[in-house]
Amino acid sequence: MQQTVLVTGASSGLGKSIATHLHTLGHTVYGTSRNPQKYADLPFPLLALDVNDQGSIDLFFAELQSKTSQVDVLVNNAGVGITGAVEEVKLDALRAHFDTNFFGPLAIIQQILPLMRKNKGGKIINITSIGASMGLPFRGGYSASKGALQIISEALRMEVAQFGIEVCTLAPGDYATDIASRRYYEPNKKGSPYEKLYQESLATMDEHVDDGNNPIEIALAVAGLIQKKHWQPHYAVGPFMQKLSLTLKRLVPQKVFERLLKNHYNL
Ligand SMILES: NC(=O)c1ccc[n+]([C@@H]2O[C@H](COP(=O)([O-])OP(=O)(O)OC[C@H]3O[C@@H](n4cnc5c(N)ncnc54)[C@H](OP(=O)(O)O)[C@@H]3O)[C@@H](O)[C@H]2O)c1
Repeated sequence: MQQTVLVTGASSGLGKSIATHLHTLGHTVYGTSRNPQKYADLPFPLLALDVNDQGSIDLFFAELQSKTSQVDVLVNNAGVGITGAVEEVKLDALRAHFDTNFFGPLAIIQQILPLMRKNKGGKIINITSIGASMGLPFRGGYSASKGALQIISEALRMEVAQFGIEVCTLAPGDYATDIASRRYYEPNKKGSPYEKLYQESLATMDEHVDDGNNPIEIALAVAGLIQKKHWQPHYAVGPFMQKLSLTLKRLVPQKVFERLLKNHYNL
């Protein structure tokens, strides 16, 4: 059945792939970008939205509601990366990161729920990360913001089930997008004891994203979820070993899992 879908952060990467694929399937898609005028060639309408700015969120919802009274599916995809040693990452940078990856999606959820309740149902997919389930070294801020989104999604899911609203998280592994080049990078402090390991870990991270899977896999997963009546709380899509890490995290002793992760990052 044709649905009206809102995809945040649809100007590039996973969001662009999700929105384009859903549009091709015949769904009515609204995407968002902080600078929609830069992406005039997309096949779906792109509305202006900065999830960090309440004024922008208010204007966005006014514009959206002038175009449609119904949003069946929200894909909370807009997000950014951050790297840095926990000891050294600037707290202001971390707060800004949480604004985009945690409070931003939450603000959109809070605005969309009254609409969904009025329409007696809806679906919310929060795009998290496989890294949401484990503290990735030198990406602790990213794991924490996505982990927070993952946990609050569990609470939300139980609160809104009574209104016929489904909620899930979709955790991608590594996908080839521009996220690595756009993420906040905390430089090492002068004489930092983390410099060598941080730089080596960064090289491993960037390799993973560059060699990442094709974003169409995430688009196909979202399209599949839209057709499904009842959802699990969490889904993960990505390279086999990354998905396996989620199973291992649940099954093996914590110290063993930590050793595997440290080996992987040569720590
Ligand atoms: N790629 C991966 O390997 C991977 C893995 C796990 C999870 N993820 C998650 O998947 C999502 C998409 O990432 P991606 O890889 O596709 O990255 P991307 O290519 O950099 O796309 C990020 C999108 O988010 C939007 N965005 C960023 N800051 C925003 C803000 N303050 N307000 C509104 N929109 C904002 C950007 O739009 P504008 O710049 O046009 O505003 C852009 O469309 C993110 O939540 C990311 O954490 C990605």
